[in-house]
Amino acid sequence: MAQSVVILGTQWGDEGKGKIVDLLAHEADAVVRFQGGHNAGHTLVVGGRKTVLHVIPSGVLTDRARCLIGNGVVVAPHALIEEIRGLEANGIEVRPRLGISPACPAILGCHEALDRAKERSRGKKAIGTTGRGIGPAYEDKASRLGLRLADLADPARLADKLDAVIDYHNFLLTRYYDADPVDGQQIADDAARQGEELKPMFADVTGELHDLRRAGRAILFEGAQGSLLDIDHGTYPFVTSSNTTVGGVMTGAGVGPGDIDYVLGITKAYATRVGSGPFPTELDDADGRMMAERGVEFGATTGRPRRCGWLDAVALKRMVRINGITGLCITKLDVLDAFDRVRICVDYEGVDGFPVGAEEWSRARPVYEDMPGWDGDTQGLTDADKLPAAACAYLDRLEELIEAPVHMLSTGPERDANVILRHPFG
Ligand code: IMP
Repeated sequence: MAQSVVILGTQWGDEGKGKIVDLLAHEADAVVRFQGGHNAGHTLVVGGRKTVLHVIPSGVLTDRARCLIGNGVVVAPHALIEEIRGLEANGIEVRPRLGISPACPAILGCHEALDRAKERSRGKKAIGTTGRGIGPAYEDKASRLGLRLADLADPARLADKLDAVIDYHNFLLTRYYDADPVDGQQIADDAARQGEELKPMFADVTGELHDLRRAGRAILFEGAQGSLLDIDHGTYPFVTSSNTTVGGVMTGAGVGPGDIDYVLGITKAYATRVGSGPFPTELDDADGRMMAERGVEFGATTGRPRRCGWLDAVALKRMVRINGITGLCITKLDVLDAFDRVRICVDYEGVDGFPVGAEEWSRARPVYEDMPGWDGDTQGLTDADKLPAAACAYLDRLEELIEAPVHMLSTGPERDANVILRHPFG
């Protein structure tokens, strides 16, 4: 029986992780975010009510799971506080259950301004970031200039460190990017107030996780974005700034590989991407439009329409291996119910080996295998025996191609709309 489960997106994000985390969180004693920030948007529908979480672990909608934000997460204090207050306004108790690592890099107003200025300066090569300051905050972490949440909660440390950050960023904004400077005093005042509000929730997240593990408690690690947005393994430079693959769990929460018992990869039955960057199976035709319409493909964080295409088994197989995936959860299979034939990309033409970065990715032309579509509605199914035979054949072929088993299907937005073949917690 698995005691510690990791949930990761295996495509470009938006695979439907939030719902699965919410489902499994009911079995967990702790739910942990370990990378990314409020660029994520995890949509949960419980009792017909939709909640979108950006940085608070999806376990917050259960009544017992401890919610932990590990050191690998970049935290915008204003966004976190707004999210806490929004949940509280809906009667959900958050503060006593939330543990935040004081080592989390802080996203300040200057990071958001820089994110926007950098995107503008990239022109046609813009990454299409969420504009949340994620990249600049991780840059400051790597350059060892950035402030951590611990600094915000200590007035003397904040005063000592913030000026240098603001000076540097304002120099970049005005002299390099030809943009307006940020108001340093405003950022300092906000940061001090926010640091004080967040301080009671500071916790030794890594230590707590070690204790939970030793006590035999169930832990769920909640990935954000998807593996193809990983800064090292994704479609660089059209990626996010963190390791969205399994290594991020260890560095972003402070646990060892032996502390992970099961890795669940979440994969949409087709593929979507928001923002720019290569997407070999992207469709610009009626099929793509039907996927977008049936799948309601709009970004949970920015509301941007998502690009749609067929499932890419070449990329998926690679991500299965990088992450050591134990089993897959296929989401939104019902979106394909309307197609007479479904396609799977089984090879790339135009590139030698697996693409290294955007240049190689953009040369990759998909080679498709076609499979018959299925008659019947898979939405809301909970019983594997009721799956149409052609849908089973599609899933069997997928398993064969990527050399990993399908353990779950998500068949609708509601918490209980799933077919569970093997439960990750056993
Ligand atoms: P950033 O993470 O805001 O720097 O954006 C970098 C890239 O990652 C852009 O293409 C974004 O659209 C994409 N991205 C970031 N977060 C998410 C997410 O949660 N879902 C899907 N795409 C995302």
